[in-house]
Amino acid sequence: MSTTEPVLSISGLAVAFRTGSELVTAISDVDIDIAAGETVAIVGESGSGKSTTAAAVNRLLPENGVITAGSIRFDGRELTDLPENAMISLRGAGIGLVPQDPMSNLNPLMRVGEQIGEALEVHGHTHGDATKARVVELLEMVGIADAAQRAHQYPHEFSGGMR
Ligand SMILES: Nc1ncnc2c1ncn2[C@@H]1O[C@H](COP(=O)(O)OP(=O)(O)OP(=O)(O)O)[C@@H](O)[C@H]1O
Ligand SMILES: [Mg+2]
Repeated sequence: MSTTEPVLSISGLAVAFRTGSELVTAISDVDIDIAAGETVAIVGESGSGKSTTAAAVNRLLPENGVITAGSIRFDGRELTDLPENAMISLRGAGIGLVPQDPMSNLNPLMRVGEQIGEALEVHGHTHGDATKARVVELLEMVGIADAAQRAHQYPHEFSGGMR
C-alpha cells in the first residue's frame, strides 16, 4: 500500500445530461484513485459511462453535460471548478485524452501535420520550422511512411489505422 497522495483522485463524481427539460444522470458515485505509475482500466458495457467519466476529468463533456456532484483532484488541484484557461494548459500537458473515434475527433478541415503541430505550439514545445520538423519525426516514430508528405494530407486521406 502506498501512502503517497494519488495523482488522480475522483470521488463521488456524478454527471448528468440535459435532454429537453430534464436532467438525466449518466454516472454517479464514481470513485477512482490512481497512483503515479499505476495503470487503471475501466471496463463496462456500452453506454455505462466510461467515456463520460474520461470527458469529465478533462472537462470536455458535450455541451449538454454537467458535473452535478463530486470531486476530481489532479496533481493537488480540484478540476471541477478550475478556470477554463487553467484547464487549457493542463490538457495535453498534464492529462492526455486519446478519443475513441478518430474520424469524428480529428478536424476534417485541418491538415494532419497542422493538428499535431498545434498541440506542440500551444504547450510551447516548438515554434515555426521546428514544429514542422518535430511533426514529421513524430509521424515517423509511429511508423507512418513518407511522413513529410503525409503531414500535408487531410484526415480523410489516411486509413482508419493511420488516423
Ligand atoms: N450528449 C449526450 N446527451 C445525452 N446523453 C448522453 C450524451 N452523451 C452520452 N450520453 C449518455 O450517457 C451514457 C454514457 O455514455 P458513454 O458514452 O459514457 O458510455 P461508454 O461507457 O463510453 O460506452 P461505449 O463503450 O459504447 O463507448 C449513455 O447512456 C449515453 O447515451
Ligand atoms: Mg465510450
